[in-house]
Amino acid sequence: MEGGAVTARVLGMDRERKELKILGIHGSPRGAKSRTRMLVQWVLEGAEATGATTELMDLASLRIEACNACESCSLTGQCVYNDDFFLLYERMIAADGIVLGSPVYIDNVTGQMKVFIDRLADAIHYQTLSGKYGCAVTTTWSSGGEDVVLYLNHVFNYLGILALKGISVAIEDDPEAIYREEEKALKLGARLAGAIRMQEKFPGQASIIEENRSFFARIVEQNREWRPDEYKEWVRKGWIN
Ligand SMILES: Cc1cc2nc3c(=O)[nH]c(=O)nc-3n(C[C@H](O)[C@H](O)[C@H](O)COP(=O)(O)O)c2cc1C
Repeated sequence: MEGGAVTARVLGMDRERKELKILGIHGSPRGAKSRTRMLVQWVLEGAEATGATTELMDLASLRIEACNACESCSLTGQCVYNDDFFLLYERMIAADGIVLGSPVYIDNVTGQMKVFIDRLADAIHYQTLSGKYGCAVTTTWSSGGEDVVLYLNHVFNYLGILALKGISVAIEDDPEAIYREEEKALKLGARLAGAIRMQEKFPGQASIIEENRSFFARIVEQNREWRPDEYKEWVRKGWIN
């Protein structure tokens, strides 16, 4: 490799040329009427403006079963369900960045979003999405928005994903409230794409992710006999000595 190419790679500039994929996932059941969906869409448009390819998935239109705690994924690496979760999971693996959006339902994410998050338990234990970037957006009548963004960021970190500061919009009875956030959402999308291209560091989150990983390493070690490939992968990555 020529010196210039090495420098470009070190600076993360080769990622600028690489096609960037950002996946939006939202958990409102209100389809096209959802304001959370609008917010996610704007974030994606902001990323698209920098040259990223984007896709938006609507959890309410997918058939995703709730985790039944059978532990099959942990013991065999295989989930007992054969549903749309895997369609989404494949897209998450292929994506460089993930945008999660949920309205606030009783001070938390919607049921659709929570069912989906619970199905990510194996992805968390095995850190299969590690190294990606994400951001969260929420809408609410008035309460809980900031907490739900924090919760989704916490989920991102559990997954080994670095999270940017998200957006929460309290709509109350102002139909224009969401439109005032359009610019902020567009900028967030551009910022997400920029963070990925530059492989931005977030030292505080990186240490949380590292701490989580050493906890999950015990699970990977315990399951070593029946999940040898994953164990080898962790050793290869230097996550298990
Ligand atoms: C079941 C349910 C629970 C809700 N819980 C809260 C709540 O705890 N606090 C709040 O301020 N708004 C709450 N809301 C209002 C929604 O968060 C708000 O209307 C949101 O903007 C809807 O998003 P959407 O347009 O994307 O569907 C709730 C709405 C529903 C249907």
